[in-house]
Amino acid sequence: MNFEIILEQTIITAKKAGKFIKQEQKNFIYNQVEIKGLNDLVSYVDKTSEKMIVEELNKIMPEAGFLVEENSISESKNYNWIVDPLDGTTNYVHGIPCYSVSIGLECKGEIILGVVYEINRDECFYASKGKGSFLNGEKIQVSDRKNLSESLIATGFPINNFSRLKNYLEALEYFIKNTHGVRRIGSAATDLCYLACGRVDAFFEYNLNPWDIAAGAIIVKEAGGSIYDFSGGENWLFGKEISCSNRLLKEEFNLVIKKYFKI
Ligand code: IPD
Ligand code: CA
Ligand code: CA
Repeated sequence: MNFEIILEQTIITAKKAGKFIKQEQKNFIYNQVEIKGLNDLVSYVDKTSEKMIVEELNKIMPEAGFLVEENSISESKNYNWIVDPLDGTTNYVHGIPCYSVSIGLECKGEIILGVVYEINRDECFYASKGKGSFLNGEKIQVSDRKNLSESLIATGFPINNFSRLKNYLEALEYFIKNTHGVRRIGSAATDLCYLACGRVDAFFEYNLNPWDIAAGAIIVKEAGGSIYDFSGGENWLFGKEISCSNRLLKEEFNLVIKKYFKI
């Protein structure tokens, strides 16, 4: 299998979906939004983007299965595409210009390739196993900050699972008081890419799904970052809790997460 060509074609696919998403934004009206669940929004834009992506990925690698957010297809094979056709839907429907297409490829529980296309800034982040991470063709790396006190933290506020909200808010208070600040960008895939290129130094969120983080995760890893669940372990892809940082911050960041999430 030629993963270089697969990566190139995946980038073309993400950009094609991104072009469609951007075009639709001009005429998008709020009553086109459907409610999937509490604060969980979707529209024909997410669904059409997913269909376009699935069709293209089927051509790129006919033998691969799919795990996709809007459920237009679901089948598990040796290789599986993990797709969020529009990450940042709440931003999109409110006209805030930060949202991405996220496409990851998984094999035996490991993400081996990922593309995140942030549509409005035309920033395409991508990585494949062992080959490094790139932003629009330029190699990227995580930051080299050593202390939380000089770090910028990204996070996602809980939107519909409030079971750990109290712990979350206590952790947030700590980070607000003890770092350069906290950002809620509104797209987890973008958060991870901003970590990968050193714009932020650490990220944490609970209740994310694999399609939010699969592609971003390999981009973080290949850029030299560490990804771990709240215990510091490996169960972050399906485990509904993810934290990541550059390697130098891992110990300090994870200690804070463990303390406030009472692990
Ligand atoms: C959402 C975004 C957001 C995160 C939410 C996700 P969606 O994805 O990644 O940053 O905080 O939990 O659901 O719904 O826009 O694809
Ligand atoms: Ca998402
Ligand atoms: Ca989505």
